[in-house]
Amino acid sequence: MKIKVIHGPNLNMLGIREVNIYGPMKLEDINKNMEAFAKQNGFDIEFYQSNHEGDIVDAIQESLNEGVDGIIINPAALTHTSISIRDAIKAVSLPTIEIHLSNIAAREDFRKTSMISDVVAGTITGFGPFSYHLGLIAMIQILNEIKMAKEAQAKAAAQQGN
Ligand code: DQA
Repeated sequence: MKIKVIHGPNLNMLGIREVNIYGPMKLEDINKNMEAFAKQNGFDIEFYQSNHEGDIVDAIQESLNEGVDGIIINPAALTHTSISIRDAIKAVSLPTIEIHLSNIAAREDFRKTSMISDVVAGTITGFGPFSYHLGLIAMIQILNEIKMAKEAQAKAAAQQGN
């Protein structure tokens, strides 16, 4: 099964930008850690980063043609503004987990609203780079449950056919 990780604007600057808030780890290293953990658990994983809202909408939509089973997304600042990202998540209807490095509930008022939190399976916020790891654990759990349910359905259908 395949997981797509989408990073929004300015997350390519991790390690340089506001290190007091986002920490010193680079995006590349976050991705490497996720890749290793996904592989250990038998999942394929791919990564995408963009500073452009429309490109992120495209990346979400393209998941359907790429055989993606679940999306992990940190829309960064677009979390607080983007109805088009929200609509794209609803349109593809894949299990999706929202990630934030910082605790958005404990920051400026404008960060307290997320346009997507009510259309995703869940949100992990405030654990620095570990938020992504926790998100990956949750996604693996969700996808394993879906896989087991499908297998049980197939088994029941086969038994009925006999
Ligand atoms: C962020 C929080 C957003 O408010 C901010 O604009 C970001 C990163 C986070 O991961 O903590 O760029 O999504």
